[in-house]
Amino acid sequence: MPIFNISKEAAIGTAALGVTFAAGLLIGRRYHPALPFGTPKRKKDPLQQYVQDYSLREHPALKKLRLLTSDHPLRIMMVCIEQAQLMANLARLLEAKKVLEIGVFTGYNTLNMALILPVDGKVVACDINEDFINIGRPVWREAGVEHKIDLRIKPAIQTLDELLANGEAGTFDFAFIDADKESYNDYYERCLRLVRKGGIIALDNVLWHGRVLKPQKDDLETQHLHQLNEKILHDTRVNISMLAMGDGVTLAFKL
Ligand SMILES: C[S@@+](CC[C@H](N)C(=O)[O-])C[C@H]1O[C@@H](n2cnc3c(N)ncnc32)[C@H](O)[C@@H]1O
Repeated sequence: MPIFNISKEAAIGTAALGVTFAAGLLIGRRYHPALPFGTPKRKKDPLQQYVQDYSLREHPALKKLRLLTSDHPLRIMMVCIEQAQLMANLARLLEAKKVLEIGVFTGYNTLNMALILPVDGKVVACDINEDFINIGRPVWREAGVEHKIDLRIKPAIQTLDELLANGEAGTFDFAFIDADKESYNDYYERCLRLVRKGGIIALDNVLWHGRVLKPQKDDLETQHLHQLNEKILHDTRVNISMLAMGDGVTLAFKL
Protein backbone atom coordinates (compact mmCIF):
# COMPACT_ATOMS: atom_id res chain seq x y z
CA MET A 1 0.00 0.00 0.00
CA PRO A 2 1.66 3.20 -1.10
CA ILE A 3 1.90 6.54 0.63
CA PHE A 4 4.68 8.43 -1.12
CA ASN A 5 3.13 7.44 -4.40
CA ILE A 6 0.98 10.52 -4.19
CA SER A 7 -1.27 10.12 -7.21
CA LYS A 8 -3.49 7.36 -5.87
CA GLU A 9 -4.24 8.52 -2.37
CA ALA A 10 -4.30 12.18 -3.29
CA ALA A 11 -7.19 11.28 -5.54
CA ILE A 12 -9.15 9.72 -2.74
CA GLY A 13 -10.36 12.85 -0.97
CA THR A 14 -12.64 13.31 1.97
CA ALA A 15 -15.29 10.90 0.66
CA ALA A 16 -12.97 8.05 1.62
CA LEU A 17 -13.14 8.82 5.34
CA GLY A 18 -16.17 6.61 5.83
CA VAL A 19 -14.65 3.64 4.08
CA THR A 20 -11.41 4.15 5.98
CA PHE A 21 -12.97 2.79 9.10
CA ALA A 22 -14.54 -0.05 7.13
CA ALA A 23 -11.14 -0.83 5.64
CA GLY A 24 -9.64 -0.96 9.08
CA LEU A 25 -12.24 -3.44 10.17
CA LEU A 26 -11.88 -5.50 7.04
CA ILE A 27 -8.16 -5.94 7.17
CA GLY A 28 -7.76 -5.89 10.88
CA ARG A 29 -6.21 -2.43 11.05
CA ARG A 30 -7.14 0.63 12.97
CA TYR A 31 -6.43 3.63 10.83
CA HIS A 32 -5.89 7.16 12.10
CA PRO A 33 -8.71 8.93 10.31
CA ALA A 34 -6.50 11.97 9.80
CA LEU A 35 -3.86 10.04 7.83
CA PRO A 36 -3.49 9.54 4.94
CA PHE A 37 -7.14 9.43 3.92
CA GLY A 38 -9.18 12.56 3.56
CA THR A 39 -6.12 14.75 3.23
CA PRO A 40 -6.63 17.69 0.89
CA LYS A 41 -5.64 17.10 -2.72
CA ARG A 42 -1.90 17.40 -2.96
CA LYS A 43 -0.02 18.42 -6.05
CA LYS A 44 1.81 15.52 -7.63
CA ASP A 45 5.51 15.65 -6.79
CA PRO A 46 7.17 16.38 -10.18
CA LEU A 47 10.20 14.24 -9.38
CA GLN A 48 7.98 11.32 -8.38
CA GLN A 49 6.12 11.80 -11.66
CA TYR A 50 9.43 11.78 -13.54
CA VAL A 51 10.43 8.51 -11.85
CA GLN A 52 7.13 6.98 -12.90
CA ASP A 53 7.32 8.35 -16.47
CA TYR A 54 10.86 7.12 -17.02
CA SER A 55 10.93 3.79 -15.21
CA LEU A 56 7.59 2.04 -15.40
CA ARG A 57 6.85 -0.59 -18.01
CA GLU A 58 3.47 -1.81 -16.92
CA HIS A 59 2.10 -4.93 -18.62
CA PRO A 60 -1.31 -4.21 -20.28
CA ALA A 61 -3.04 -6.76 -18.00
CA LEU A 62 -1.60 -5.04 -14.93
CA LYS A 63 -2.73 -1.68 -16.24
CA LYS A 64 -6.22 -3.08 -16.77
CA LEU A 65 -6.34 -4.44 -13.23
CA ARG A 66 -4.97 -1.20 -11.80
CA LEU A 67 -7.69 0.79 -13.57
CA LEU A 68 -10.33 -1.66 -12.35
CA THR A 69 -8.98 -1.31 -8.82
CA SER A 70 -8.96 2.48 -9.10
CA ASP A 71 -12.77 2.41 -8.95
CA HIS A 72 -12.69 0.57 -5.63
CA PRO A 73 -13.21 2.63 -2.45
CA LEU A 74 -10.29 0.76 -0.82
CA ARG A 75 -7.97 1.27 -3.78
CA ILE A 76 -5.31 2.74 -1.50
CA MET A 77 -4.56 -0.82 -0.40
CA MET A 78 -3.11 -1.74 -3.79
CA VAL A 79 0.66 -2.18 -3.93
CA CYS A 80 2.49 0.69 -5.65
CA ILE A 81 3.50 0.07 -9.25
CA GLU A 82 7.20 0.86 -8.77
CA GLN A 83 7.42 -1.65 -5.96
CA ALA A 84 5.59 -4.32 -7.94
CA GLN A 85 8.00 -3.80 -10.84
CA LEU A 86 11.01 -4.07 -8.54
CA MET A 87 9.66 -7.29 -7.02
CA ALA A 88 9.04 -8.78 -10.47
CA ASN A 89 12.61 -7.90 -11.47
CA LEU A 90 13.99 -9.51 -8.30
CA ALA A 91 11.90 -12.64 -8.86
CA ARG A 92 13.22 -12.82 -12.44
CA LEU A 93 16.77 -12.50 -11.15
CA LEU A 94 16.12 -15.39 -8.76
CA GLU A 95 14.58 -17.42 -11.61
CA ALA A 96 11.70 -17.85 -9.19
CA LYS A 97 9.27 -20.72 -9.58
CA LYS A 98 7.42 -20.56 -6.27
CA VAL A 99 6.16 -17.31 -4.77
CA LEU A 100 4.09 -16.48 -1.69
CA GLU A 101 1.69 -13.54 -1.65
CA ILE A 102 0.38 -12.73 1.85
CA GLY A 103 -2.48 -10.26 1.29
CA VAL A 104 -3.88 -10.29 -2.24
CA PHE A 105 -6.61 -7.58 -2.36
CA THR A 106 -7.61 -7.33 -6.07
CA GLY A 107 -4.51 -9.28 -7.03
CA TYR A 108 -2.23 -6.72 -8.69
CA ASN A 109 1.00 -8.18 -7.36
CA THR A 110 -0.31 -11.74 -7.63
CA LEU A 111 -0.84 -11.11 -11.35
CA ASN A 112 2.49 -9.30 -11.56
CA MET A 113 4.27 -12.38 -10.23
CA ALA A 114 2.21 -14.89 -12.22
CA LEU A 115 3.12 -13.01 -15.42
CA ILE A 116 6.86 -13.47 -14.91
CA LEU A 117 6.84 -17.02 -13.56
CA PRO A 118 7.56 -19.92 -15.93
CA VAL A 119 4.64 -22.11 -17.09
CA ASP A 120 5.18 -24.50 -14.20
CA GLY A 121 5.58 -21.64 -11.69
CA LYS A 122 3.13 -21.04 -8.84
CA VAL A 123 1.97 -18.15 -6.66
CA VAL A 124 0.40 -19.26 -3.39
CA ALA A 125 -1.95 -16.33 -2.80
CA CYS A 126 -3.38 -15.84 0.71
CA ASP A 127 -6.34 -13.67 1.63
CA ILE A 128 -9.50 -13.78 3.71
CA ASN A 129 -11.69 -11.72 1.40
CA GLU A 130 -12.84 -13.37 -1.81
CA ASP A 131 -14.87 -10.32 -2.89
CA PHE A 132 -11.66 -8.36 -3.45
CA ILE A 133 -10.16 -11.22 -5.44
CA ASN A 134 -13.25 -11.58 -7.62
CA ILE A 135 -12.43 -8.15 -9.03
CA GLY A 136 -9.05 -9.30 -10.30
CA ARG A 137 -9.71 -12.92 -11.14
CA PRO A 138 -11.19 -12.24 -14.64
CA VAL A 139 -8.02 -10.30 -15.52
CA TRP A 140 -5.82 -13.19 -14.28
CA ARG A 141 -7.86 -15.48 -16.55
CA GLU A 142 -7.73 -13.14 -19.55
CA ALA A 143 -3.95 -12.82 -19.14
CA GLY A 144 -3.71 -16.63 -19.30
CA VAL A 145 -2.02 -17.04 -15.92
CA GLU A 146 -4.85 -18.08 -13.60
CA HIS A 147 -3.54 -21.65 -13.57
CA LYS A 148 -0.34 -20.40 -11.88
CA ILE A 149 -2.29 -18.96 -8.95
CA ASP A 150 -3.06 -21.20 -6.01
CA LEU A 151 -5.59 -19.18 -4.06
CA ARG A 152 -6.11 -19.90 -0.37
CA ILE A 153 -9.05 -18.09 1.21
CA LYS A 154 -8.42 -18.34 4.94
CA PRO A 155 -6.23 -16.56 7.51
CA ALA A 156 -2.75 -16.47 6.01
CA ILE A 157 -1.15 -17.90 9.12
CA GLN A 158 -3.20 -21.06 8.64
CA THR A 159 -2.04 -21.39 5.02
CA LEU A 160 1.60 -20.88 6.00
CA ASP A 161 1.32 -23.53 8.71
CA GLU A 162 -0.28 -25.92 6.21
CA LEU A 163 2.56 -25.35 3.75
CA LEU A 164 5.08 -26.11 6.49
CA ALA A 165 3.17 -29.22 7.58
CA ASN A 166 3.14 -30.27 3.92
CA GLY A 167 6.95 -30.33 3.85
CA GLU A 168 7.32 -27.15 1.74
CA ALA A 169 9.95 -25.50 3.96
CA GLY A 170 12.81 -24.05 1.91
CA THR A 171 10.94 -24.40 -1.40
CA PHE A 172 9.79 -20.80 -2.03
CA ASP A 173 11.94 -18.29 -3.88
CA PHE A 174 10.12 -15.08 -2.97
CA ALA A 175 7.54 -13.98 -0.40
CA PHE A 176 5.62 -10.71 -0.18
CA ILE A 177 4.13 -9.82 3.22
CA ASP A 178 1.32 -7.28 2.82
CA ALA A 179 -1.60 -8.24 5.09
CA ASP A 180 -2.64 -7.38 8.69
CA LYS A 181 0.22 -5.55 10.37
CA GLU A 182 0.03 -7.08 13.83
CA SER A 183 0.74 -10.53 12.35
CA TYR A 184 3.84 -9.40 10.44
CA ASN A 185 6.29 -11.03 12.84
CA ASP A 186 4.42 -14.35 12.61
CA TYR A 187 4.42 -14.10 8.82
CA TYR A 188 8.10 -13.18 8.75
CA GLU A 189 9.12 -16.13 10.95
CA ARG A 190 7.14 -18.58 8.84
CA CYS A 191 8.42 -17.09 5.59
CA LEU A 192 11.97 -17.50 6.85
CA ARG A 193 11.26 -21.21 7.06
CA LEU A 194 9.38 -21.46 3.76
CA VAL A 195 11.82 -19.42 1.64
CA ARG A 196 15.02 -21.08 0.40
CA LYS A 197 18.53 -19.81 1.08
CA GLY A 198 19.18 -16.92 -1.32
CA GLY A 199 15.45 -16.22 -1.58
CA ILE A 200 13.83 -12.90 -0.73
CA ILE A 201 11.14 -11.83 1.73
CA ALA A 202 9.66 -8.39 0.98
CA LEU A 203 7.72 -6.65 3.76
CA ASP A 204 5.44 -3.79 2.77
CA ASN A 205 4.42 -0.71 4.80
CA VAL A 206 7.47 -0.80 7.06
CA LEU A 207 7.32 3.02 7.43
CA TRP A 208 3.57 2.96 8.13
CA HIS A 209 2.84 6.47 6.90
CA GLY A 210 5.86 7.76 8.85
CA ARG A 211 4.37 6.74 12.19
CA VAL A 212 7.32 4.44 12.94
CA LEU A 213 9.29 7.61 13.73
CA LYS A 214 7.26 8.08 16.89
CA PRO A 215 5.11 5.06 17.79
CA GLN A 216 2.27 6.08 20.12
CA LYS A 217 1.47 3.96 23.19
CA ASP A 218 -2.01 3.08 21.99
CA ASP A 219 -0.96 2.40 18.39
CA LEU A 220 -0.17 -1.30 18.46
CA GLU A 221 0.32 -1.65 14.71
CA THR A 222 3.02 1.02 14.60
CA GLN A 223 4.70 -0.41 17.69
CA HIS A 224 4.64 -3.86 16.12
CA LEU A 225 6.10 -2.64 12.83
CA HIS A 226 8.79 -0.60 14.58
CA GLN A 227 9.79 -3.53 16.82
CA LEU A 228 9.94 -5.81 13.80
CA ASN A 229 12.09 -3.29 11.90
CA GLU A 230 14.44 -3.26 14.89
CA LYS A 231 14.49 -7.05 15.09
CA ILE A 232 15.20 -7.44 11.36
CA LEU A 233 18.02 -4.87 11.60
CA HIS A 234 19.86 -7.26 13.95
CA ASP A 235 18.66 -10.51 12.38
CA THR A 236 21.74 -12.52 11.35
CA ARG A 237 19.58 -14.88 9.27
CA VAL A 238 19.19 -12.23 6.56
CA ASN A 239 20.86 -9.37 4.71
CA ILE A 240 18.57 -6.39 4.33
CA SER A 241 17.70 -3.26 2.42
CA MET A 242 14.95 -0.89 3.54
CA LEU A 243 13.66 1.27 0.70
CA ALA A 244 11.60 4.45 1.04
CA MET A 245 9.43 3.36 -1.86
CA GLY A 246 5.64 3.42 -1.53
CA ASP A 247 4.99 3.16 2.21
CA GLY A 248 8.42 1.64 2.77
CA VAL A 249 9.54 -1.85 1.86
CA THR A 250 12.17 -4.04 3.49
CA LEU A 251 13.87 -6.64 1.37
CA ALA A 252 15.26 -9.48 3.48
CA PHE A 253 17.68 -11.74 1.62
CA LYS A 254 17.81 -15.12 3.33
CA LEU A 255 21.31 -16.32 4.16
C1 LIG B 1 -2.78 -4.06 1.50
S1 LIG B 1 -3.85 -5.30 0.91
C2 LIG B 1 -2.82 -6.29 -0.15
C3 LIG B 1 -2.45 -5.60 -1.45
C4 LIG B 1 -1.85 -6.54 -2.50
N1 LIG B 1 -0.60 -7.12 -2.06
C5 LIG B 1 -1.69 -5.93 -3.86
O1 LIG B 1 -0.90 -6.44 -4.66
O2 LIG B 1 -2.34 -4.93 -4.19
C6 LIG B 1 -4.05 -6.31 2.34
C7 LIG B 1 -4.90 -7.56 2.14
O3 LIG B 1 -4.67 -8.40 3.27
C8 LIG B 1 -5.85 -9.13 3.51
N2 LIG B 1 -5.81 -9.66 4.89
C9 LIG B 1 -6.04 -9.02 6.06
N3 LIG B 1 -5.90 -9.84 7.09
C10 LIG B 1 -5.57 -11.06 6.59
C11 LIG B 1 -5.29 -12.33 7.15
N4 LIG B 1 -5.32 -12.53 8.47
N5 LIG B 1 -4.97 -13.35 6.33
C12 LIG B 1 -4.94 -13.16 4.98
N6 LIG B 1 -5.19 -11.98 4.39
C13 LIG B 1 -5.51 -10.94 5.17
C14 LIG B 1 -6.97 -8.14 3.23
O4 LIG B 1 -8.18 -8.81 2.95
C15 LIG B 1 -6.40 -7.35 2.05
O5 LIG B 1 -6.89 -7.86 0.83
